Amino acid sequence: MKYETQAIAKWYWFAALALFAVQVLMGLIAGYVYVQPNFLSELLPFNILRMLHSNALIVWLLLGFFGAAYYIIPEEAEREIHSPAIAYFQLILLVVGTLGAVLTYMFNLFDGNPILGKQGREFLEQPLWVKLGIVVAALAFLYNITFTVLAGRKTAITNVLLLGLWGIAIFFLFGLYNPANLVLDKIYWWWVVHLWVEGVWELVMASVLAFIMLKLTGVDREVIEKWLYVIVATSLFTGVLGTGHHYYWIGAPGYWTWIGSIFSSLEVIPFFAMVVFTFMMVWKGKRNHPNKAALLWALGCSTLAFFGAGVWGFMHTLHPINYYTHGTQVTAAHGHLAFFGAYVSLNLAIMTYAFPSIFRINPYNQIANMVSFWMMSSAMAFMTFVLTFAGAVQTHLQRVMGMSFMEVQDQLALFYWMRFGAGVAVVVGALIFIYATIGPRKEATGLEGAALSPAE
Ligand code: HEM
Ligand code: HEM
Ligand SMILES: [Fe+2]
Repeated sequence: MKYETQAIAKWYWFAALALFAVQVLMGLIAGYVYVQPNFLSELLPFNILRMLHSNALIVWLLLGFFGAAYYIIPEEAEREIHSPAIAYFQLILLVVGTLGAVLTYMFNLFDGNPILGKQGREFLEQPLWVKLGIVVAALAFLYNITFTVLAGRKTAITNVLLLGLWGIAIFFLFGLYNPANLVLDKIYWWWVVHLWVEGVWELVMASVLAFIMLKLTGVDREVIEKWLYVIVATSLFTGVLGTGHHYYWIGAPGYWTWIGSIFSSLEVIPFFAMVVFTFMMVWKGKRNHPNKAALLWALGCSTLAFFGAGVWGFMHTLHPINYYTHGTQVTAAHGHLAFFGAYVSLNLAIMTYAFPSIFRINPYNQIANMVSFWMMSSAMAFMTFVLTFAGAVQTHLQRVMGMSFMEVQDQLALFYWMRFGAGVAVVVGALIFIYATIGPRKEATGLEGAALSPAE
């Protein structure tokens, strides 16, 4: 860590990891409700559990991105963050908003109130006041990092990161628009949900991976930048019109079936490019960086993202296939591996890389960290397989044979038990990760306060 203000990241990541624990725990309970439907049905019904699970995910991933920006930008721009006070104000605002949303849902506060009450559009459930708070926090953040970047050295990494973060804020604004017409509602809803994960978040992913590769492999910046531009260009070219794969059956014009099928199939390219990029850099790298766990997470990130988003996405993205699989467990299988591979792993990679440098000690607890990688990754992969089988059976029984939804669900119980088993392993793996990165650590390396490894 070369700049004092990089330590701001630490507080964002503490908050992110706390919510990560909440997220997987809520997922686990929701998975248990799938096999024991009355569990907690009075206290924490399934719809609330599911909302907490998916929203805690989105919020902690965003907190992780903000932390990554506060960590990466000073080093790249060769400047301290413009205003640490604004950065902490932004974090407080986001934490208050998160708690507000959780309490509103758990106790059903202000029910029916358009500003204070719950909203109930998947992933955008936050009450309006929380959404407005998020907009203020986003503006404060953009102001802060944009001024830092403008005042300092401009690199491809800062430019792409900035573009991604501006995009996140701009597309979030469509979450505030809630037309009464259900078709229009869905069209704009996807402008947040799809254009985030298959557009601007990919830019954040590419730039953070580029930063990690730069530090860990020591490959020339020019080489890394060329890859970065290829990834950015292909992800925007495919991702924007790829939105069409969500317009097949919602009442939008018919030409979307073709536009969506063609462009979303091409979305595999940037994810594949990220795999080739990360492995090539490691292969060509001249540096033997001691933080092997960070390298493992970075390679795991591009690989699992390619499978989760690329392969499992392509599996159901052509409209003649999606006609059958739409909204089944196939979708859930893809959603889990894509989010885990791309954005969970990305955050855990940059945290694994940066925490030792923030604490000013050598990489520590590497074995525990790598154990958590293999536990979480294999359990998520297993969960994905199980849900894919469940989805194939469900598609056949429900969409081909015409059995009723609940009758089919009965047939899937065994798969849901296995998903629950995988979930237990994910939760344990997540706790090991948290212990390994921010739990007790031996500081007696003789390098405290020094610029530690030469490679850093
Ligand atoms: C970091 C790991 C995880 C990520 C990234 C993740 C992500 C998600 C996402 C994106 C959804 C919404 C899916 C959709 O709309 O298709 C979801 C739903 C769900 N997740 Fe997770 N999840 C994770 C861990 C878990 C774990 C450990 C369990 C435990 C069994 C679990 C159980 C569930 C359940 C039961 C749902 C609701 C599915 C439904 O409504 O049918 N998740 N998760
Ligand atoms: C990291 C990137 C990605 C993430 C995090 C992600 C996540 C998700 C999630 C959570 C859903 C369920 C949304 C809902 O209905 O609530 C979904 C749906 C979908 N995704 Fe992705 N996805 C990614 C990339 C891709 C890619 C690259 C493709 C195509 C190659 C793809 C194809 C689809 C399709 C076709 C659906 C609609 C499924 C249905 O009809 O039920 N996704 N995605
Ligand atoms: Fe999409």
